[in-house]
Amino acid sequence: MPNASSLIVRPLSPIAGAEVLGFDGNGPLAESEFAALKNAWHDHCVLVFRDQRFTPDGQENFSARFGALKGHILSQYLLPGYDKTLVLSNKKVNGEPAGLEDAGRYWHSDVSYEDVPPMASLLYALEIPPEGGDTLFANQYAAYENLPGNLKQRIAGLKARHMFNYGKIQAEAGSSRKPLSAEQQAQLAGAVHPVVRTHPETGRKALYVSPGFTVAIEGLPPDESESLLKELWSYATSGDVIYRHRWQPRDAVLWDNRCLMHHATTYPAQYTRHMHRTTIAGTKPF
Ligand code: OGA
Ligand code: MN
Repeated sequence: MPNASSLIVRPLSPIAGAEVLGFDGNGPLAESEFAALKNAWHDHCVLVFRDQRFTPDGQENFSARFGALKGHILSQYLLPGYDKTLVLSNKKVNGEPAGLEDAGRYWHSDVSYEDVPPMASLLYALEIPPEGGDTLFANQYAAYENLPGNLKQRIAGLKARHMFNYGKIQAEAGSSRKPLSAEQQAQLAGAVHPVVRTHPETGRKALYVSPGFTVAIEGLPPDESESLLKELWSYATSGDVIYRHRWQPRDAVLWDNRCLMHHATTYPAQYTRHMHRTTIAGTKPF
């Protein structure tokens, strides 16, 4: 049984990410240990739990310690029998994709096109390719802090519209994605969120606009909106705010969607990458 003293948290980079060793996510977790984990998570935004043996139930139960779990609009990629576990995979089962093959190959914060976007996602690597398939994480507290004062002033109080531009993703070369059902389409109204959000637990400010899902800043003419977004994204995705996660088999990576963007990278098609994701509900950004 794990206890507080057996947990080792080691930073993976100065900007984001820490690995947790000596931890079994399937096992019991005392309130005090959980509090220690949460503090480390708030400090590092990304926690990498090494060498996990998660069953789908184990992953869902551990994730549910953080909050209620969410399914996904692309319900065809949920693990059969589990309505809260999304499969990311390039495997085929009877010629059909076993999971979402091209998730998140653009900078984004998960599901920011909903009014109440998820707090966190936990991605568990069952099979990883020997090369490629890294995940990039960009610290949006740091991105905000790096803005010049006049830019901070300019964006104070601004809001932006977020949309799931499924058609564009689907049209991209090599995507095996199917068109959305009418029911899925109906869930895609989009959402409006502050350009700078305050993390409800740390109280820190973070940029909250992404090339993947943010389509416009409210109340600005289109050309101004676009040039302002591009300027903000240059800070949001600048090399000095990025941690690159190179996966090890059985890593389970918990990231905070309220202070990070992330970006999947490609890998050679002859290799398999197979992962399970759980998604933890959040609160309305402010
Ligand atoms: C996700 C995602 C990145 C990756 O699961 O939300 O963006 O590297 N995944 O698979
Ligand atoms: Mn994602």
